[in-house]
Amino acid sequence: MAFNKRVKIKTILDQHPIGSEITLMGWVRTKRSNKNVSFIALNDGSIITNYQVVADPNLIAEDILKKCTTGACLKVSGTVVESQGAGQASELNAKSIEVLGEADPEKYPLQPKKHSLEFLREIAHLRMRTNTFGAVFRVRHALAFAVHQYFNDKGFFYIHTPIITASDAEGAGETFKVTTLDIANPPRTEAGSVDFKQDFFEREANLTVSGQLEGELAALALSEIYTFGPTFRAENSNTTRHLAEFWMIEPEMAFYDAEDNADLAEDFLKYLINYALKNCQEDLQFLENRLLDEEKSKPADQRSEMGLMDKLKFVAENEFVRITYTEAIEILKRSKPNQKKKFQFLIEEWGADLQSEHERFLVEKHFKKPVILTDYPKEIKSFYMRQNEDGKTVAAMDILFPGIGEIVGGSQREERMDLLVNRMEELGIPTDEMWWFLDTRRFGSTPHSGFGLGFERMVQFVTGMGNIRDVIAFPRTPGNAEF
Ligand code: 4AD
Ligand code: MG
Repeated sequence: MAFNKRVKIKTILDQHPIGSEITLMGWVRTKRSNKNVSFIALNDGSIITNYQVVADPNLIAEDILKKCTTGACLKVSGTVVESQGAGQASELNAKSIEVLGEADPEKYPLQPKKHSLEFLREIAHLRMRTNTFGAVFRVRHALAFAVHQYFNDKGFFYIHTPIITASDAEGAGETFKVTTLDIANPPRTEAGSVDFKQDFFEREANLTVSGQLEGELAALALSEIYTFGPTFRAENSNTTRHLAEFWMIEPEMAFYDAEDNADLAEDFLKYLINYALKNCQEDLQFLENRLLDEEKSKPADQRSEMGLMDKLKFVAENEFVRITYTEAIEILKRSKPNQKKKFQFLIEEWGADLQSEHERFLVEKHFKKPVILTDYPKEIKSFYMRQNEDGKTVAAMDILFPGIGEIVGGSQREERMDLLVNRMEELGIPTDEMWWFLDTRRFGSTPHSGFGLGFERMVQFVTGMGNIRDVIAFPRTPGNAEF
């Protein structure tokens, strides 16, 4: 038999093939023994549920059984039988066990007891072997798959935009440099600055903060496209919502105005949630119970009103609120936390940038629903957003989610050459370097729109995980790039 002719635990639990001879491979979660028999709970990651292996010491040598400790990897062959015990419909009567990889119980850091998420972050190389992280990464996979399913069904094309670029799409200047120059001793120009002409790309280059600008080029040829790739931001934000490396989904559509854009975004987010509800039942149930457990330590008034799955259903079934920035400012000005000076940043006048405390007030306290906020002041948004008639605002759209804050940022794009160039000049963005971007406005320009969904924030919302570092396998944050 080939080594990999094994059956996944998920398949066995779907079929319970009583009487079949099968081989399982997986990692020991727990072992209980008495004189007559050992029960080994095996997990292979295909599903959250462990499968029970029953080992008779008359058939399995004692020295083998001794090595079946938590964390060890086993190959078990035997017969599927109806289970005697409660809790499972079938189990495997082992005829042979091979220890593929031992795990010294004195040294293996993961024990059957509960570990804190903080501790598990320090052993991110092993944390995927826990129920929580197994569930999170299966849900993450399902959501990534659903992204492609959604856009493919709608006839959007998946474009791979570059990871190394020479532009800063968001204009925030928070980029990681990409260079092969000797940083201890870089070549200099006559004026004394670093001579990037001698660098690999013969210019300054950085890791992309967004695939949008290249996505726009593609949309103005293929009509409807999306990108789904890693993006990088060197902002020094140590929050539960920020990563230095995160994945973003950016659809970009020709012939869409701001309202079409919002309609697509709302439909897309609901699709992803429904997909998870339909395809990740066991994992979501586990994560819901995990949250309930976590909340037991909180005072009753700080516990959430809804369980995880009810919250997901609620968002999927209800219309998002749509209001303008100007309306939001009025609500915030009159709000209790503003009047009682409870906000860290008080809202005094129109034009203020919204902090996450304001976004969360609108979503969690005021509307108790996701909110699509539109038409922000142009001063606090990027150069590429379409200018509104009022001369003050742009056709921006942020979508705010409960517990998360901003999950989507997007806009209708400025398709009018003169207005775009004026705005770039006002902001000091070099128009000559962006000639290729401006060419789309020069030749065959058209109204178009798009948005970016932060994938990890979406995974956070669906899994209920409080910290963004716990929904990406190997988080990159300030001071943290191990593993
Ligand atoms: O609002 P942002 O900066 O928008 C853009 O980058 C646009 N170019 C998107 C577009 O219109 N095509 O980022 C979009 C989303 C945010 O709403 C947030 O969900 C997520 O990306 N995001 C982050 N997620 C994790 N860590 C960070 N540091 C993030 N910064 C943004
Ligand atoms: Mg944004």
